[in-house]
Parts: sequence; structure tokens; C-alpha cells
Amino acid sequence: MQTSTLKHLAIIMDGNGRWAKERGLSRTKGHEAGAETIRGITTYCASHHNIETLTLYAFSTENWKRPKLEVEFLMKLLDRYLKSELETYIKHNIRFQAIGDISVFSKSLQKRIIDTEDITKDHKNLTQILALNYGGRAEITYAVNRLIKDGKNEISEDDISRALQTPYEDIDILIRTSGEERISNFLLWQLSYSEFYFTPTLWPDFNSKELDEILNNFKQRNRRFGGL
Ligand code: FPP
Repeated sequence: MQTSTLKHLAIIMDGNGRWAKERGLSRTKGHEAGAETIRGITTYCASHHNIETLTLYAFSTENWKRPKLEVEFLMKLLDRYLKSELETYIKHNIRFQAIGDISVFSKSLQKRIIDTEDITKDHKNLTQILALNYGGRAEITYAVNRLIKDGKNEISEDDISRALQTPYEDIDILIRTSGEERISNFLLWQLSYSEFYFTPTLWPDFNSKELDEILNNFKQRNRRFGGL
């Protein structure tokens, strides 16, 4: 029986707003519930399925188009999440890293992100990457410009892979919650040979049982990477 190995799992966490609306709650309550799901899924991944890297789409370059108050809330929630999560990162030996352009965030939030990266940099169990003000096209463009600045005049695929902000294994599996079936400018380069799973479950309702089902299905998939 074919068993695909799983090193890098990526998730587009979608549906917080609809989850809140279904309950007559404000969207912010949906995001708070979404942050709880991040905590549960991350700690679960740290001790199951031998996953090395979990990359989560937390804030896209397009999310600035949301109402100012919602954006401000998401920034505060991120700060609160990282502050309270430090204990979990230490307890479960989880490394935290951010990708995306965080230079536009407040100085205090940038410091929180960088400090959390520093404190957890030697943790080996799982790397949790949060994509923050992230866009896949921006990441590729930035990588190419960096190579040009370094004096390269002919650029290979390996050069680009190495110059990306996410110099990790390609994504084995991408999950998107809430029934939407789009990539939304997430990890365009790294998803080339990924398996895709779209679930109607709204992100705050997503749990380790459903993750198990998806990952067990993934392990049976025959990934050919273009071969036979
Ligand atoms: C979208 O749901 C999800 C996001 C904006 C990204 C994920 C954000 C969280 C899980 C909140 C907590 C994040 C951190 C890092 C603490 P949506 O608002 O697009 O839902 P909708 O499509 O139903 O409106």
C-alpha cells in the first residue's frame, strides 16, 4: 500500500466570520474562536503524524481591505495570541516563525513577533509558521529581486526556492476550511505538487478528529510528482 510522507502541512483558515454570524455574534468573536482552534491544532500537530512544519495563513496582503476596526482587532488578537502562546511553544517544544512583510505592523507587534521567534528558535518538535501580511506573488517577486541584487543574471528554480522567505520543504498538503476552493495567493511556489483538501467546516469548528481523517486519506494518496 502506498504511504505518502507528510512533512509540511499548510492551512487556509477560513470561515471565522460566518461561524460568528451563525451564532448571532460579532465577527471578532469568530476570530477569537479561530485563535483557539489554532492553539488546538498546533499542539495536536506537535505530537501526531510526524509533521515538521505547519504553515497557517493568518493575514494576507489583501486583508487590509477589511474594515479598519476589524484589522485593528486582528492585530491586537495576534499580539495577545503570541503573548499567551509562549508557554505552549515552550511546553511542546514548538518553534514559531513568521513569513510576510511585518515591517508595516506596529513596533510593539513587530517586537513581539521577533522576540517569540528568538525565544523559540532552537525548538525542534514542530515549526509553526504564521503567514502575516503575506502574499505568494510578493514573496516570489521579493526573492527574484534579491537574487538580481546578489548579481545573478541567470536564475534557476533552486535559486528561487532558496531565496524565498519560506525555505522549507514544499507543501505536502493544503487544507482550506469553509467550503471556498481557492488558493488566495498563498504559497504559490511551494504548492506546486501539493495535495488539496477543501472542507465545508468553518475554521472555529475544525478539530483534530477531522484533521486525522484528512491526513489518513492523504497517506493513501499516490503522489507521482509528474512521474508514473
Ligand atoms: C478568515 O475568516 C480568517 C482570517 C482572517 C485569517 C485567520 C485568522 C484567525 C484564525 C484569527 C486569529 C489569528 C491569529 C494569528 C491570532 P473570515 O473572517 O474570512 O471568515 P468569513 O469568510 O466567514 O467572513
